[in-house]
Parts: sequence; structure tokens; C-alpha cells
Amino acid sequence: MDISRLTPAHAAEYRAVMLQAYAHEPEAFTATVSERAPLPLDWWRARVSDRPDPSELVFGAFEDTRLVGVAGLRFEHRPRTQHKATLFGMAVLPQFRGQGIGRALVKAVLEDAQATPGTRIVQLTVTESNAPARRLYESCGFVAFGTEPFALKIGERFVSKVHMWCAVDSAVA
Ligand SMILES: CC(C)(COP(=O)(O)OP(=O)(O)OC[C@H]1O[C@@H](n2cnc3c(N)ncnc32)[C@H](O)[C@@H]1OP(=O)(O)O)[C@@H](O)C(=O)NCCC(=O)NCCS
Repeated sequence: MDISRLTPAHAAEYRAVMLQAYAHEPEAFTATVSERAPLPLDWWRARVSDRPDPSELVFGAFEDTRLVGVAGLRFEHRPRTQHKATLFGMAVLPQFRGQGIGRALVKAVLEDAQATPGTRIVQLTVTESNAPARRLYESCGFVAFGTEPFALKIGERFVSKVHMWCAVDSAVA
């Protein structure tokens, strides 16, 4: 398995992985298939821009040449928040789970954040009931700092989200 940063050439495969994740794990994501499926491929290309100083970037896990997992990292540019980055859009295809791919993707995100000057912490949110993802993040060093009630409305139900953070700068840790 290889981990590398996605480029616009991966946009169609990235879209396919995310649409499958939204469809199969609707509680894990804020976005839905009906919101994202109609978006043009250019929207996905912009998410995986290969510009040197992007607002967000996405790492992909490849088995042979097949994209089987993804995790994104979004940077802040405002002076008072640019020390924070956000891990988003984490998904591994169901048949490839339990093999360390999720952990390798989180590691790639944290290493990139650590190598980005000025970035001190990475934050994320995870649905409270999503035990596999919470365990993964905790095992990678993330700590919960609060639970947001009524975070998502899914059908007629509301679910809570846990907010987590991880220091990537020894001055913070
Ligand atoms: C969460 C997810 C990304 C984990 O990916 P993965 O490749 O299976 O994870 P790994 O094999 O690297 O597992 C790493 C750790 O995560 C935890 N974990 C993974 N799957 C788990 C499960 N089913 N139950 C409990 N813990 C689990 C364990 O701590 C595991 O470490 P261990 O193997 O040493 O016990 C994957 O299950 C997924 O895509 N889920 C659907 C989408 C989703 O929930 N995304 C997160 C949105 S916040």
C-alpha cells in the first residue's frame, strides 16, 4: 500500500470513493450523496489541487494503482486561526478496512501538518456513535475536547459530534 497526495488526475476516483462513503456511512459525514453527486468534476478537481500552497489537500491510499482510502487536510489562513488545521473526509473502502490503511492516512495528514510552518494543532469532528473512527483517532494521538449535541439532522433524528484535537508542534504538546 502506498500513500500519496492526490492530484487533479485523481478527481474522478476520489469522487467515486467519497460518494460510496456518503452512501454507505451516511452518519459519518456531514455531506450527503444528494448534495455532492450533482457537483461537476471541477469541484472535485479543486479539492485535490496540486498547487504548492493549497487551502486543502487530500492524501490517498493506493493498493496497486487503485485508490482505496482518502483523508483530507484543510488549512486556515486568517491570522488568528492559521495555527489550526482540520482533518476532513476520512474514508477507507469497506473491503480494505482493518489493514492499517486508516492509520497510515491519519499519519500522513499529521506529518504534513507538522511539516507546514505555523501549524500547531489538527482538529476534527467525528459522529459520537462512530466507534471505529474514534478509536482510530485516539490511537493516533487525538483527544476529545467536547461533544456537540444536535450536530447533524439525519432524517428525523439528531446525532452528536465529538470534537477532537492533536498537537503537531512540540511547543503545544
Ligand atoms: C474509520 C475508518 C477510516 C478506519 O479505517 P481502517 O483502515 O479500517 O483503520 P485501520 O485498519 O488503520 O485501524 C486503525 C485503528 O482504528 C481502530 N479501528 C478500526 N476499525 C475498527 C473497528 N471496526 N472497531 C473498533 N476499532 C476500530 C482500531 O483502534 C485500529 O487499531 P488496531 O487495528 O491496532 O486495533 C474506516 O472504518 C471507514 O472508512 N469508516 C467509514 C467512514 C468513516 O467513519 N470515516 C470517519 C469520519 S470522521
